[in-house]
Amino acid sequence: MYGMVNSAIMDLIVTNHGEETWLRVKSKAGVEDEIFISNESYPDELTYRLVGAASEVLDQPAGDILKLFGRWWVLDTALKNYGHLMKNGGRTLGEFLINLPNFHTRVVMMFPALKPPTFECTEVRETDLRLHYHSHRRGLSAFMIGLLEGLGEMYEVSVSIKHEEKVDEGADHDVFHVAWSEVKTA
Ligand code: HEM
Repeated sequence: MYGMVNSAIMDLIVTNHGEETWLRVKSKAGVEDEIFISNESYPDELTYRLVGAASEVLDQPAGDILKLFGRWWVLDTALKNYGHLMKNGGRTLGEFLINLPNFHTRVVMMFPALKPPTFECTEVRETDLRLHYHSHRRGLSAFMIGLLEGLGEMYEVSVSIKHEEKVDEGADHDVFHVAWSEVKTA
């Protein structure tokens, strides 16, 4: 994955737990890089090692770390660095999710080696829909849930997310039922 992902994990840990904890995570993960270059590709395995090491050092399940990271990605990384892209994603959470299948197409223009997930929305209604998530990678559904929670916060609506179909349990892809409380324009 692009270095910006590892950088964001570093920022999350340094901001919430301090530099020293980050150094422990990095050393447990066997990562020697002092910094990560945003637009350079790193092996996916390095990112997974960082999440695994953070889970051990912070004594929290890896799924919880990935969920926190998803919220952080939306509310910190994406809004601060790519605010224009995020704001153009839609006026409401519903619009943003309907536009999500095209979202990474714009990201690919900046990061041509991106291997993004793909999305599809079905059963779209006023305050709920089904979001289909197809990924080349395994084990990132908790990250997806954190991203959706972060988007709810960004649009100031309360979101309920039900993970209805799981690749880990033999499904073809992951399906989330996403419902939000009220529609506000951002
Ligand atoms: C400006 C905002 C965003 C940028 C710059 C961005 C960029 C990226 C990058 C660099 C990766 C790593 C993949 C790679 O390097 O090959 C990634 C992965 C991913 N992105 Fe985005 N993204 C953004 C917003 C979003 C949003 C809003 C969602 C969904 C709500 C999302 C869902 C994901 C997921 C689930 C992955 C994990 C990879 C996978 O499943 O294969 N991203 N994105």
